[in-house]
Amino acid sequence: MTERVAQVPQRTYEIWGNWKMNPRTIDEAETLLFDMIHEHLKPLLADFTSMRRYIGIGIFAPDLFMSSLGTTAQTADGLMKLGAQNMYFEPEGAFTGESSAPMIRSILTYADNDPNVLIGHSERRHGSILGVLETDEIINEKMKAAYNHAMRPFLAVGETLSEREEGLTEDILEEQIIRGLKDVTVDEFFGARTVIAYEPVWAIGTGKTATPEMANEAHAHVRGILREKYGDYVAEQTSIQYGGSMKPGNAAELLAQEHIDGGLIGGASLDAASFAGIVAAALPLVR
Ligand code: PGA
Repeated sequence: MTERVAQVPQRTYEIWGNWKMNPRTIDEAETLLFDMIHEHLKPLLADFTSMRRYIGIGIFAPDLFMSSLGTTAQTADGLMKLGAQNMYFEPEGAFTGESSAPMIRSILTYADNDPNVLIGHSERRHGSILGVLETDEIINEKMKAAYNHAMRPFLAVGETLSEREEGLTEDILEEQIIRGLKDVTVDEFFGARTVIAYEPVWAIGTGKTATPEMANEAHAHVRGILREKYGDYVAEQTSIQYGGSMKPGNAAELLAQEHIDGGLIGGASLDAASFAGIVAAALPLVR
């Protein structure tokens, strides 16, 4: 299977904020993104040109703000990408309140930006307040829609606290990845530079972080699942992000683990200095 895949290394560090339903206004969102770029990231990444092949930095922003944030992101000379936090799998139709792949693609058009989309975040898989729970089958439809519309999906997976306590972590990861990627070919998966985001649900927004060793073990398992499905090369070259209470204070240790290739950052991405602090923690590892 692997020999059909172009042998291009693509295991980059991917440091992404997930703003969720924040901040409250477009003005606050613009200010936050502008500060991130101009007060923090540009000075930090002054020699970014030589590093851009190895690191991806972005924000999964609210759809409503995306168009206007795209203008701000363009002032970052390619170092700030944007992505959607979710999308529906049908391209158009009577689906009140949803956004489709073609809609998102048509907004994320500026140079240096892939049409990135986060799929299967645990707040959508388990979020009882959201009403509709996303199953692996729905997530699989969304992944296939992403590939059909030439988007780059970040597939979020992770176990709940009770699943971890019952020793089910590895089974859950396998189930979510195998079902989420059902009928997805190696060319689709690798061609789109798919990222896997491992986010233990019990560590999201709780201040509890998986220890670097625990996280690395789960990431190694994820890589093993990819190896079985798509072969050695693809498994080795796929970026696997960690998410769950990552902050400047714990990022360096997490990111230094063999199988951790970045972070998906919720709370700390709402503060420009904290987000930049996590990027700074990745930089010594990137070269
Ligand atoms: P957190 O969120 O960093 O606030 O724990 C991570 C996420 O939900 O992606």
